[in-house]
Amino acid sequence: MQDIFTKSMARNIYYGGSLFFILLFLVLTFDTHRTLPERDNRENLTEQVAQGKRLWEENNCVGCHTLLGEGAYFAPELGNVYKRYGGKEGIKAFIQSRPAEGIPGRRSMPQFNFNDEELEAIAEFLKYASEIDTQNWPPNIQG
Ligand code: HEC
Repeated sequence: MQDIFTKSMARNIYYGGSLFFILLFLVLTFDTHRTLPERDNRENLTEQVAQGKRLWEENNCVGCHTLLGEGAYFAPELGNVYKRYGGKEGIKAFIQSRPAEGIPGRRSMPQFNFNDEELEAIAEFLKYASEIDTQNWPPNIQG
C-alpha cells in the first residue's frame, strides 16, 4: 500500500463509487418495475373501486387519514382497515355512525351522509387497498 493518497486514487474512488451506485440504482429500479404489476392488485380494480376512490378524493379522507402510509396523521391508517374490521359491514357501520359524541378528548370523524351505493363503493375501495401487496408497509398497524 502506498503511503501517499494520490489525486488519481481519489478520482478512481469517485468514479468507481459513482458507477457502482448508479448501477445498483438502475438494477433496483428495474426490479421494482418488474415486480409491481404482480403486487398492485390490478385484477380487482373494478368500476366500483374507482368510484370509491373518487369519493375518497372528493371528501378529502386523506386530509385526516393515511392510506398505505401516505396522508395525514390525525386519524387511523385505512389501508388495512378492511382486515382489521374483518369485512365491509363493519366499515360501513362505522362511517354511518359518525360522529361519536360525548367522549371527551377523543378525535371524531364527521358525518358524510353517504347513500348505500356510495358506502359500498368506499368499502370496496378499502377492500381493494387492503389486498395490495405492500410487503408489510406500513410496518405499524395504525400507520
Ligand atoms: C376530519 C377528519 C376526518 C376525515 C375528513 C375523515 N375521517 Fe375517518 N376518522 C377520523 C377519526 C378521528 C377517526 C377515529 C375516530 C374514532 O375512533 O372514534 C376516523 C376513523 C375512520 C374509520 C375507522 C378506522 C379505525 O381504524 O377504526 C374509517 C373506516 C374511516 N374513518 C373512514 C373514512 C373515510 C372513508 C373518509 C372519507 C370519506 C374519512 N374517514 C374521512 C377522522 C376523519
